[in-house]
Amino acid sequence: MATKRTAHAGYTVPGLTLQDGHKVAALLQSRLHALNDLQLTLKHAHWNVVGRDFISVHEMLDPQIEKVRAMVDETAERVATLGVSPNGLPGALVATRTWDDYSIGRAHTSAHLAALDVVYSGFLKSHRKTLAEVGPLDPITEDMLIGQCAQLELFQWFMRAHLEDDDGELVNAGAKTERAAANKAK
Ligand SMILES: [Fe+2]
Repeated sequence: MATKRTAHAGYTVPGLTLQDGHKVAALLQSRLHALNDLQLTLKHAHWNVVGRDFISVHEMLDPQIEKVRAMVDETAERVATLGVSPNGLPGALVATRTWDDYSIGRAHTSAHLAALDVVYSGFLKSHRKTLAEVGPLDPITEDMLIGQCAQLELFQWFMRAHLEDDDGELVNAGAKTERAAANKAK
């Protein structure tokens, strides 16, 4: 007997229509790509920071990367649970993402911290947008994304705590790009 292979299963989680389950999975797929991109970007920064504060920033990033990798796994498995094939491949990520590669190479810790603050801001805004979209459809997926946002907002504060001036303002305030943020933090 021939085996039929499709990207979608013929089921989703109980209590959701097939259409809604697959719609939530499609929304999660874009966050799966974003999370994969984030863990690679954080590792890139981990390898490329230099300066007097090297070891503290270098070592601060690894636990964040581990947590983001765990989010990648739970997000992909939620997509599969909803009845859709998760795509974790780099070609698909690059083909569908709406942002560019992280733009900072070997640079001072302050430059990376300021640029990563911009990365986290962009990521978290999009994550909250998806959270708001899936909320009315699936509270279980909403709950997962709430937990991820809370953890990632904490990690962004770790960056920001390094970037405050004596008045409590961020030295990279107003910077829209990673490069502009890095320049302001010099
Ligand atoms: Fe390492």
